[in-house]
Amino acid sequence: MKDTVTLNDWVQSVLDEVESALQAWVPMDAPAGLGEAMRYGVLDGGKRLRPLLVLAACEAVGGARAAALRAAVAVELIHAYSLVHDDLPCMDNDVLRRGKPTVHVRYGEAQAMLAGDAMQALAFEVLTPQDGSVEPALQARLCALLARAAGHAGMAGGQAIDLASVGRPLDEAALRDMHRRKTGALLQVSVLMGAACGDAAPAALAALADYGAALGLAFQVVDDILDVTQESHTLGKTAGKDLHDNKPTYVSVLGLDAARRHAAELRDQAQAALARSGLANTARLAALADKVVDRDS
Ligand code: IPE
Ligand code: IPE
Ligand code: MG
Ligand code: MG
Ligand code: MG
Repeated sequence: MKDTVTLNDWVQSVLDEVESALQAWVPMDAPAGLGEAMRYGVLDGGKRLRPLLVLAACEAVGGARAAALRAAVAVELIHAYSLVHDDLPCMDNDVLRRGKPTVHVRYGEAQAMLAGDAMQALAFEVLTPQDGSVEPALQARLCALLARAAGHAGMAGGQAIDLASVGRPLDEAALRDMHRRKTGALLQVSVLMGAACGDAAPAALAALADYGAALGLAFQVVDDILDVTQESHTLGKTAGKDLHDNKPTYVSVLGLDAARRHAAELRDQAQAALARSGLANTARLAALADKVVDRDS
């Protein structure tokens, strides 16, 4: 019980810190209402799992916290931009996100596209402060990691596969590849960016990379499960959308029970990777892996 309370307190303090940083760094005064659309898309909503992973990984390696907070905000900006674009009529055509009308419903499609574009650019601005608070070599490393995970090889590439796969029965290997890119890459890189803020040994970094890969895939398997098992008001987004849109998912390919078993296996793989990392301070990362699989939104 005590551990749970401690984790909850830690989560709450990270959420507060990330929210304040986003409040401060996402500009209100961008031209022609763009700032308002950006702030609507990223402030005050979402589970903030990626920032939690960055800061938990940074703690696990005893890394530089100021840099990790910037990495946490940057990855959340990329994630929020990906959601704004994912919801557009030309992609998933969704009207509900984080319990609110989607950005394009509220501000129009063109403004939603631009808000996403500007959030992506802002992520890299946040990673490159000119005030000496983050070493130049670390700035470059964080930018390289995030760019790789967000771009053609990662999230954007995965989204391209997702759209090209509507109505096509993918086999499990192809589905895994799509999920690893579209969702797993940003979650794994959250762990790697946190770890980059310290100087963990190569074996520990490799174990954290395995943890992030297993957790990242588990996250999208569970997202697929929740789409069929939860209601829209619990999810804060439209339930039943994957089936409606004829998207290949872990539920459509494996069935619900096998998808649940697979999510549990991936959680165990993530925990095993942490155990072999040799790092002492991994309790938060372990708790987050459990949370990814045992959640209802
Ligand atoms: C939703 O991500 C999109 C996927 C990558 C599956 P989250 O479930 O983390 O969304 P928020 O940030 O909590 O809204
Ligand atoms: C989205 O996957 C992954 C992204 C890169 C945004 P989904 O399309 O399944 O995400 P939701 O279910 O709309 O949140
Ligand atoms: Mg989608
Ligand atoms: Mg979607
Ligand atoms: Mg989904």
